[in-house]
Amino acid sequence: MAGEDDGRRAAAVFDALGATYEKAFAHSEAHRRSLEWLLGRLAPGSRVLDVGSGTGRPTAETLTRAGHGVRGVDISPVMVELAARQVPGAVFDCVDVRELPLDEDSFHAVCVYFSLLQMDRAEQIGLIGRLARALLPGGSLVFATVPLDVEGVDAVFMGQPVRVTSFAGADLVDVVRGAGLTVLAEENTLFTLDHPEAGPEPHLFLHCGKE
Ligand SMILES: C[S@@+](CC[C@H](N)C(=O)[O-])C[C@H]1O[C@@H](n2cnc3c(N)ncnc32)[C@H](O)[C@@H]1O
Repeated sequence: MAGEDDGRRAAAVFDALGATYEKAFAHSEAHRRSLEWLLGRLAPGSRVLDVGSGTGRPTAETLTRAGHGVRGVDISPVMVELAARQVPGAVFDCVDVRELPLDEDSFHAVCVYFSLLQMDRAEQIGLIGRLARALLPGGSLVFATVPLDVEGVDAVFMGQPVRVTSFAGADLVDVVRGAGLTVLAEENTLFTLDHPEAGPEPHLFLHCGKE
């Protein structure tokens, strides 16, 4: 199975972090603005897939409160349990998104907030392509990540050992364009987690549409 070790490692990291992760990122204004952008494009009762849904906050909670139907998927059993408890109006599954069957044209929006960093580049590119195909025409994909040109780098994140792969910002724009999406808005920001060991890290939010 592709990336099985990466998946196990990602699950272990986020099982260990649980609610601590939510607290560390709770003050992200860029994430809040990104959700506002998405809400402005969604018709009432839209279907949204949240990839790597974490604790369900703020993404699934915000979208569910606005009346949309949210399906969250996450590889960490602890995160899924927290999300299901905190956002009972959404549906959460514990699954590796790389193994998730996706029908074409099935969601009005897909959210991918910081959830691909434990996959290799080919997997990230392939998944973004599949997620784009799962969008209905006129749909939206919001993608946020740490835009760094790194591949399989061992690091420490909030005290947990992680192996990180990402892309430089311009390359990420090429990846989403290669998936047939149009970048409609972009925000680059520096964010400092609320955590004793954290320094500022770059965040990139790409707000994309499917023609
Ligand atoms: C950095 S957290 C972000 C959580 C949430 N999206 C947010 O922004 O608050 C990344 C999440 O993606 C999940 N994740 C990582 N790899 C995954 C995979 N292959 N399939 C599903 N979820 C994954 C992790 O368990 C974790 O909950």
